[in-house]
Formats: sequence, C-alpha cells, structure tokens
Amino acid sequence: MNNTLIAPSVLAADFANLQRDIEMINNSQADWFHIDVMDGHFVPNISYGMPVIEAIKKHATKPLDVHLMIEKPERYIEEFAKIGADIITVHYESTVHLHRTLTQIKNAGCKAGVVLNLTTPVSVLEDILSECYMVLIMSINPGFGGQKFEEITYNKVRKLRKMITDQGLHTLIEIDGGVTDKNAKQLVEAGANVLVAGSYVFKAQSPAQAIIDLKNLTR
Ligand code: DX5
Ligand code: ZN
Repeated sequence: MNNTLIAPSVLAADFANLQRDIEMINNSQADWFHIDVMDGHFVPNISYGMPVIEAIKKHATKPLDVHLMIEKPERYIEEFAKIGADIITVHYESTVHLHRTLTQIKNAGCKAGVVLNLTTPVSVLEDILSECYMVLIMSINPGFGGQKFEEITYNKVRKLRKMITDQGLHTLIEIDGGVTDKNAKQLVEAGANVLVAGSYVFKAQSPAQAIIDLKNLTR
C-alpha cells in the first residue's frame, strides 16, 4: 500500500473547544483538515460557514480540504479561497457546468475536486477526470456525521481507480462517511488515497491515537 492521507472531519469536533481540537489535529499524524459546509438545501442540515473556517485557518498548520455540500457552489468559490481553503470539492449533483466550476476553483488558486453522491455512478466523470486533483466518493448520504458506511462504496472505488489508471492520471480518491478501523484497509486496497474520519476520530478516547490507528492500518 502507499501513504494514505487521513483527514479528520471538523464537523465532529467540540465547537466549544475548537482551538483544542485544531491543535490536536496539528500535533497528530493527520494530513488535512476536512471542512464540511452544508447549506440546508443541498443536504438537510446546516453546518458552519466563512467566519468559522476563517478562525480555523488562523490556527491550522495543515491544508484545509473544504467539502461544499451547497447548491450552486460557483457563487462562493472565490470567498472560500480567500479565507484559506487549499482544496475545494464540489458535488457533481450541485453544479450544472462542472468544468467551469473546476476551472473557477483552480483560477482562485485552489486544488479542485469533485464529489459523487452514493448513487451517482463514477462513469459520469470519464470526460472530466483529467481536470480533477481529487474525486471524493461519498460512502453515506451526505448531511450528517456518524452514519453507517455503505458497502457499495468498494466497487465504486475499484471502478474509479481503474478509470484513473486507464487514463494515465494520478487523481486522488477520497472517501467520506462512516470510515472506521473496520473498513479503512479494504478501502485503501480498493484504491482510495484519502480517508475522512469524523466520529471515529473524535468519539475515540484518544483522537490522536485513533488517527495513528487509521494510519497504521493503511500503511
Ligand atoms: C457528512 C460529511 C462527513 C462527516 C463524516 O456529510 O461530509 O465529512 O463529517 O463523519 P463520519 O466520519 O462520522 O461519518
Ligand atoms: Zn465531508
């Protein structure tokens, strides 16, 4: 296997102790901060927005991986870039002109990725894959942390990995939703490079150790 990246999801942090949890991630073996933005339209939940992300950026020493679960994300790309997003991923299902939105993200100075909902097939990305730094495959219906991982994900990861190899690309595959020590190894074996983990990390007795455990399982 390779060096799998671990991106703890800040959604599962204690917002009243956010600085403490940011420092935990800074000092841990984690690679990125996963930042979930929800608008109450694209997904049935509202998370947090610009002021919170700006505050996180002030303390974070690792890249911010910003997952936009919002309708028409093209309205806000420049703003997210300005407040410190390093990677911006938009849902395939949320933006009509995907190529234009990815270009917009890159022009704003960020790495651009696409997210697929659980039932959106990976084949829809065939002609846009070369424009993607990363593809995020949802392994739950987005909107909430703490949900159960859906097994159909493995097959999607394998298919996408094959598409990436066939096209001679180096696109990263990220998985988000219900990632634990029970599925991490199998996900990486199927071809995943980045694992998002919310509840598994923050509900653990030692979040830093939970991150080490995921790293060790996927080495
Ligand atoms: C859900 C978010 C996820 C969430 C994952 O829509 O995209 O990033 O925080 O949480 P867990 O790891 O608890 O499933
Ligand atoms: Zn997410």
